[in-house]
Amino acid sequence: MEASTPGAEAVPAGPELIRDLAALRAQVAHWHRAGETVAVVPTMGALHDGHITLVSEGRKRADHTIVTIFINPRQFAPTEDLDRYPRDEAGDLAKLGTVGADLVYAPAPGDVYAPGFATAVKMEGPAKVGLEDKFRPHFFDGVATVVAKLFCRTSADFAMFGEKDYQQLLVVRRMAKDLDLPIEVVGIPTVREADGLAMSSRNRYLSRTERHQAAALPRLLMQAAEKIRSGGDASRATGAASRSLTTLGFKVDYVTARNAETLAFPEIPGEPLRILAAAWLGKTRLIDNVGV
Ligand code: PAJ
Repeated sequence: MEASTPGAEAVPAGPELIRDLAALRAQVAHWHRAGETVAVVPTMGALHDGHITLVSEGRKRADHTIVTIFINPRQFAPTEDLDRYPRDEAGDLAKLGTVGADLVYAPAPGDVYAPGFATAVKMEGPAKVGLEDKFRPHFFDGVATVVAKLFCRTSADFAMFGEKDYQQLLVVRRMAKDLDLPIEVVGIPTVREADGLAMSSRNRYLSRTERHQAAALPRLLMQAAEKIRSGGDASRATGAASRSLTTLGFKVDYVTARNAETLAFPEIPGEPLRILAAAWLGKTRLIDNVGV
């Protein structure tokens, strides 16, 4: 890539860091003119191996991979953890250097939402099925708005999203299709710690004891999936998982089996199912899901 992109900052031993939209557009236009494809990995930073896997998958699909780092204020409610959300730009850049991302785009909040900003993408469909939307009503419009902007800003051909945030993946896919954005949204399986806990930037909020307890969440979801696969009733299996979580000290928001494509309640025998859950351990909210 060109070392002299205007607006770029030199970062030793890492990908090029761009904060300026014109510089980003110039670089992507240069790649596209050469007939090369681009994948984007939208993130909020504090990167872990889950994010890094999305970057590796992006590199397999496209000639160039852009990672965006932007903590999007519009997807946090005033009571949520926007102020204490982990930030580690130097660490992120070092990790991205080792995986071979071409470019990091990290705009300032005032650039993404300039004064007078007055537009939002309002989502229905998979964004209104009584899962994350029930507990975080502001969330998906905030996500869809920023992701639509990031898709437009990067003009990427592929977008890599984790199945870890399964409802978000379906919402983003729907949004891109409905707005005719020429990008393929690719879902990547959840990357887990050795004990099964899904990697998450928020896991660092857990105390040692909570971190130990947290592995019960994926374990119980996988047990419920196994029961359903071997002929058990879906709502019975998820009900049992929910009760076990409560007994273990979790405060459960939901544990439910839904149609894997629409997130509607199951109706037809044999339809593809996904078990989705959200539960609190102390002050930390964990989400996870598994296929049946
Ligand atoms: P963030 O939580 O940083 O996640 C960025 C991407 O990494 C998402 O697609 C998420 O699903 C994926 N991811 C997180 N943990 C993962 C894991 N353990 N395995 C696989 N993929 C994982 O999700 C967001 O940011 C934001 O909502 C965003 C889409 C960037 C919009 O602001």
